[in-house]
Order: sequence, then C-alpha cells, then structure tokens
Amino acid sequence: MEVLVAYESRSGRTRRAAEAVASAVRERGSNATLKALAETTAQDIEKHDALAIGTWVEGFIVVKVGPAKAALEAVGRLPAMGGKPAAVFCTYGVNPRGTLATLRRSLEAKGATVVAENASPRSHPERGATELAERLCASPRPT
Ligand SMILES: Cc1cc2nc3c(=O)[nH]c(=O)nc-3n(C[C@H](O)[C@H](O)[C@H](O)COP(=O)(O)O)c2cc1C
Repeated sequence: MEVLVAYESRSGRTRRAAEAVASAVRERGSNATLKALAETTAQDIEKHDALAIGTWVEGFIVVKVGPAKAALEAVGRLPAMGGKPAAVFCTYGVNPRGTLATLRRSLEAKGATVVAENASPRSHPERGATELAERLCASPRPT
C-alpha cells in the first residue's frame, strides 16, 4: 500500500508527528511519502492508496479553535478522493477541541473514508502515531 502523509506545520511538531506516522506505516510493510500539505497536488492524491493528513491547532483563546486555516485551505484545493481510506491527526498546545472533527469533515466532503484520528500534545508529537498507522494500514482499499 502507498500512503501519503501530508502535514501543515509551522514550527515542526506536526512534521515530527507526520514522520512518526510515516515510519509506523513503513514498519507495517507499506510505503509512506511525506509531503507538506500546501505542496500536495491532485497527482499525489491519485498516486496513493491511503492518506494521513495532519495539522496544528490554531485558535484565538477558546473561540474558533480548529485546524490551522492553511490546512483547511489546502484540503479545500484537493481533488475528490473516491472513498480512499484516510486518517487525521493534529498536534496541540492546550486542547484540540473540535479540530479532528472539523478536519475529518473536510476530508469526508472530498469523498475520503476517515478510519482513524489522533491528537497529540506538542510535547509528545509522536504519541498515538503507531495506532493511527495500524488502523489506516488495516483499512480496505476502495474497489
Ligand atoms: C497562532 C497560534 C495559535 C494557536 N492556538 C492554539 C489553540 O487555540 N489551542 C491549542 O491547543 N493550541 C494552539 N496553538 C498551539 C499549536 O497548535 C501547537 O504548538 C502545535 O503543536 C504547533 O504545531 P507545529 O509545530 O507543527 O506548527 C497555537 C499556536 C499558534 C502559533
């Protein structure tokens, strides 16, 4: 299975989380490609069987906490995903609140089937990456 791990990261923690997901995918015998979400193209989506999409949590105090604006904009530019399995993840400072649910909905709106999600604190960006990769790699591909 070819897995694309695409991330939106400003100061590197979500990139570390993405690297942890990619290495857990490889440990399960699949290939993983890491890419910044802003640079992810329609061809990248087409080439891969499954996607893991990560963001940092952006908000203003407790109002409107969610995926980084740049992440939602980048997902909005992606093409239809035709039922491909997907996982969503984020790193946060205080509380991710509805970040994963919002990111999940934005991918489902593109036709992805979201099978796993994980929020990790910025102090431990790798936390939960193994379980996320396990669920993603175990999910059936669309026929
Ligand atoms: C402008 C800004 C707003 C943030 N807002 C929140 C927030 O509302 N809630 C939260 O839990 N973390 C918030 N954070 C913390 C980041 O989500 C966290 O540090 C994350 O791990 C950064 O990821 P990165 O290193 O990939 O950029 C904010 C960080 C920045 C820079």
